[in-house]
Amino acid sequence: MAIAKLLSLIFVVFSIYAGPVAAFDEEAARELAEKSKCFKCHAVDKKKDGAPYRDIAAKYAFKYKGKPYAEAEARAIEHITSGEMVKFDDGHEEKHKKVKSQDTEEIKNLVGWILSLPGGTYTPE
Ligand code: HEC
Repeated sequence: MAIAKLLSLIFVVFSIYAGPVAAFDEEAARELAEKSKCFKCHAVDKKKDGAPYRDIAAKYAFKYKGKPYAEAEARAIEHITSGEMVKFDDGHEEKHKKVKSQDTEEIKNLVGWILSLPGGTYTPE
């Protein structure tokens, strides 16, 4: 049936990685990042101790190309909630800062904002 075909096509289009699909609230995302002190190490477009957020968006777009956005989102959430180890440029490792929220929607909103930032670059190793 034509309708069913069309619907499944739409489903495919929306489930592969095209950056965050849902709308997000940039102001709320920035507020949570501010509150969580993320900007101490990350800026949108400048390198600090951590990569610029737009470059992180570019990296995820590369890594999750052709995969569902949900996978990229889940990975990013894991990163900012688990306190996993990260490597700094000087070679030392420490636990990554955890986001100051327990609210999944709020965290998804922050991740959505970060992963949607345009203009970043990523060079695969
Ligand atoms: C003390 C410094 C520091 C703080 C504070 C910090 N980060 Fe990071 N972040 C890093 C480093 C170092 C990395 C790993 C190298 C890189 O990607 O720049 C990283 C990586 C990331 C990544 C990429 C993960 C991946 O899968 O590649 C994301 C997303 C991220 N941080 C988000 C955040 C958010 C959100 C906050 C606030 C809750 C935050 N960071 C606070 C230093 C920091």
